[in-house]
Amino acid sequence: MAPFQHSRLCFFSLSLLLLLLLPFTVTSQSNRNVSLGSSLTTESNSLWLSPSGEFAFGFQRITTDGYLLAIVFDKIPERTVVWSANRNNLAPIGSRVELTTQGRLVFTDPSGNQIWAANTNGPVASHAAMLDTGNFVLASSDGSSLWESFQDPTDTLLPTQIMERDSRLIASHSRSNHSEGRFKFIMQLDGNLVMYQRDEHPGTPSEYAYWSNHSNIPSGYRLVFNQSGFLFVASINGTVLDNVFSNGGSSQDFYHRVTLDYDGVLRYYEHPKRNASNNNPTSRNNGSTSSEEDGVWPTKWVSLDFEPKNICTAVRGTLGSGACGYNSYCEMEDGQYRVCKCPPRYIFQDPSDETKGCVPDFAPQDCRRLPEEIDAFDLAAMPKVNWPQSNYEAFEIDTEDLCQQSCLKDCRCTLVVYNGGLCLMKRSPLSNGRVEDAMSGRSLIKVRRSNSTTTTTTTFPPPVSSVPVENEEKENGGQALFIVGSVLLATSAFVILLSATTFILFSRLKKKKDQDRGGKDGENDWLSRNLQNFSYRQLEQATGGFDEVLGSGASGTVYRGVLPNQRLVAVKRLDNAVSQTQDREFETEVKVIGGTNHKNLVKLVGFCNEGLHRVLVYEFMSNGSLDKLLFGGGGGRDSSRPGWYTRTGIASAVARGIVYLHEECSTQIIHCDIKPQNVLLDESMTAKIADFGLAKLLKVDQTRTMTGIRGTKGYVAPEWFRNVPVTAKVDVHSFGILLLELVCCRSKLEMEAESEDEVVLADWAYECYKEGKLARLVEDDDEAMANIGKVERFVKVAMWCIQDDPSLRPGMIKVIHMLEGSVHVPIPPDPASFMSTI
Ligand SMILES: *[C@@H]1O[C@H](CO)[C@@H](O)[C@H](O)[C@H]1NC(C)=O
Ligand SMILES: *[C@@H]1O[C@H](CO)[C@@H](O)[C@H](O)[C@H]1NC(C)=O
Ligand SMILES: *[C@@H]1O[C@H](CO)[C@@H](O)[C@H](O)[C@H]1NC(C)=O
Ligand SMILES: *[C@@H]1O[C@H](CO)[C@@H](O)[C@H](O)[C@H]1NC(C)=O
Ligand SMILES: *[C@@H]1O[C@H](CO)[C@@H](O)[C@H](O)[C@H]1NC(C)=O
Ligand SMILES: *[C@@H]1O[C@H](CO)[C@@H](O)[C@H](O)[C@H]1NC(C)=O
Ligand SMILES: *[C@@H]1O[C@H](CO)[C@@H](O)[C@H](O)[C@H]1NC(C)=O
Ligand SMILES: *[C@@H]1O[C@H](CO)[C@@H](O)[C@H](O)[C@H]1NC(C)=O
Repeated sequence: MAPFQHSRLCFFSLSLLLLLLLPFTVTSQSNRNVSLGSSLTTESNSLWLSPSGEFAFGFQRITTDGYLLAIVFDKIPERTVVWSANRNNLAPIGSRVELTTQGRLVFTDPSGNQIWAANTNGPVASHAAMLDTGNFVLASSDGSSLWESFQDPTDTLLPTQIMERDSRLIASHSRSNHSEGRFKFIMQLDGNLVMYQRDEHPGTPSEYAYWSNHSNIPSGYRLVFNQSGFLFVASINGTVLDNVFSNGGSSQDFYHRVTLDYDGVLRYYEHPKRNASNNNPTSRNNGSTSSEEDGVWPTKWVSLDFEPKNICTAVRGTLGSGACGYNSYCEMEDGQYRVCKCPPRYIFQDPSDETKGCVPDFAPQDCRRLPEEIDAFDLAAMPKVNWPQSNYEAFEIDTEDLCQQSCLKDCRCTLVVYNGGLCLMKRSPLSNGRVEDAMSGRSLIKVRRSNSTTTTTTTFPPPVSSVPVENEEKENGGQALFIVGSVLLATSAFVILLSATTFILFSRLKKKKDQDRGGKDGENDWLSRNLQNFSYRQLEQATGGFDEVLGSGASGTVYRGVLPNQRLVAVKRLDNAVSQTQDREFETEVKVIGGTNHKNLVKLVGFCNEGLHRVLVYEFMSNGSLDKLLFGGGGGRDSSRPGWYTRTGIASAVARGIVYLHEECSTQIIHCDIKPQNVLLDESMTAKIADFGLAKLLKVDQTRTMTGIRGTKGYVAPEWFRNVPVTAKVDVHSFGILLLELVCCRSKLEMEAESEDEVVLADWAYECYKEGKLARLVEDDDEAMANIGKVERFVKVAMWCIQDDPSLRPGMIKVIHMLEGSVHVPIPPDPASFMSTI
């Protein structure tokens, strides 16, 4: 049975350890007992007070006809609820709570039905008491406690309260609605403190953690809010492991509480105490606040600290609505309060509950009337507002304008972001919207022009001012499409002409886009137009008789060459004995790389397929390969290594190249051999991926089981060794290793490492990360040390990439977002934890 631990006197004189072990008796305290047979009703206007009068147990009126059985701070104007029995079902007037003559605390409605009862598990109480700590207890005749409100918390903790393992706080639904909301704060069985959000994605409610600090706060035995107002994790022997919150002011002058607020933020609050002389236990049951203190004391709770620091970016589901609802976005106000906002021309779906999200105030774009509908829409800029999920298409495109056009012409597109050459198209419902100060690029949201300046025949007034047309035009969302009658008649030659022109223009653009993206139809065309078919003789001349060797690999040797037009090229001659494998490799490479066009992929200029000769001609990359740059000749760290910014730039470039291969070609390309040797740098140090000899062409959504190990040892994903399907996630794995090498500027394996622990980079990096000693990874790199936060982010991303379980590895678009910092990087598990379970 839980010991009794709430005498303030005892607290001062005894250590915490003793307090937790010694049973205290209610009789040792000068409290007012609630004797058997006592009761409170909603009408009686009385409360059970603590001896000091600071806390009261009883009914609080919440709505005109709804009462909460609660414990409140009774001496401050804001009679803050710290605990309640019936938060999800307010009790009607006429309800009653009674400590029965049988020693049970029972709460019933006017017809006598039980609403709630304290669960005392057998023994009966001899009395109850509201203590000065804010704890309401039921005690047996020997003084031991049978039930305590402290053991059954709602959303608030008070000093001297303890959260044992497997206990939780559940946030209220909103500021004024005490019902259970979406957020939980849990002291888990494993001793970790975690905050969870219930994700209300239609059909699949699920929970996920949005805050956990167990890498910094060690797991402990219990969470203690001690007498002097420190909230800390304690070990089994009572030692303080880490403070979650530290006290601000003296507990004699201030009240303290920790509440999981309705917005999912755990806040530490302080309120000045009212002067103790003014003890006035009158009943004030009508919710009005007394004005005695006005002008004398500040009468507000002040939040001194809170976690997480940015709820907007902390909450991120896979598909869920985020901290605010769908189509809305979350902004931190005054650095600590969450505000939900709607994009331009969007309104709250439920004005009384901003977390329910936003809906457009206009009819969506009609896919069947695209040519005219394009002009009816505009894009409204929303700088620094991001919806990191919801992407359905991403592609490279030269200008923001073309990116915008793509969205306007695609009826699925709700919002578009152009960022460094990448065009991201997003569709409704937009989820996890938030203000991100670090966001590069801006969001442009599609809105219907309310007063179009184009030809009068194609105006679409907003729904309010138009007449609903009852016909088959119903949208998916069940939202009726409103059209003005005149539009139906707008079949003038002009409109037809306009539509036709737009349509032709549109299909041309689309065709070009397909070709750019390696579309199957355009492929052969494209190859013949863009790849030069050299004769062997021409290449012999270009390379001066295959003289200057740039490098050699398993399949052939690469030479430096100069084309007649003075263009520098790298000429790769595959070994003479042409085997079937090599033929296939040759064909693959011509097909794969020839069909691609991306600034982070090495360009194939041409090829030679003559008799037994198989030669590939590439653009020349004057700064050589990444492995030489990173590891130099000797392999060790040396002064000539590239700087931190160069390295992070290379990481992003390689990631972009892989995104292109994985996501943006009509046929997905898996490179299968991502490693520093296959990343080349041009004269401006732009990184490009090379060597597609092993690439696999997979139709999107199709996976294949491979036999035989491909790729290069050390970078190869573990699934190659197992009989499981190989997917694009193998490249993610290799990229993770490459990323670590970039961060640490050393090779995946270093036989001459200072200690054995450091030989395998991935293992060593995880050790360092786990122990919070990331600095060891970038020891003599001042630039990296100055950016240790970014180092940590990159290492975490790498750890996610190299997870043994392919399904845990993120996709490359996510990787880019995480590298950029636009998406929170969760704490990665041990990469090898999956291996043992196979
Ligand atoms: C409270 O009740 C207990 C048990 O009935 C009794 O021993 C104690 O004296 C009471 N305390 C006060 C202050 O009435
Ligand atoms: C509080 O919110 C819940 C959940 O939305 C709702 O069912 C309940 O009616 C609300 N209560 C009040 C008093 O508004
Ligand atoms: C509460 O905890 C803090 C820090 O963990 C400690 O300094 C302080 O002495 C504790 N107070 C009491 C009353 O145990
Ligand atoms: C209490 O436990 C911690 C680890 O949980 C240990 O480091 C410490 O030495 C222990 N202290 C005592 C007094 O046993
Ligand atoms: C989380 O860890 C950081 C770094 O150790 C620390 O500064 C912070 O206070 C921790 N957060 C909480 C809630 O304790
Ligand atoms: C209470 O009143 C006394 C004297 O009236 C004053 O000294 C003290 O500062 C006041 N405040 C508190 C918190 O005790
Ligand atoms: C609540 O009580 C105050 C004063 O005690 C009174 O002025 C006010 O009218 C009451 N409000 C209601 C809703 O009964
Ligand atoms: C529409 O008209 C209103 C006033 O009539 C004007 O303020 C607003 O800027 C116009 N909007 C557009 C998109 O032209």
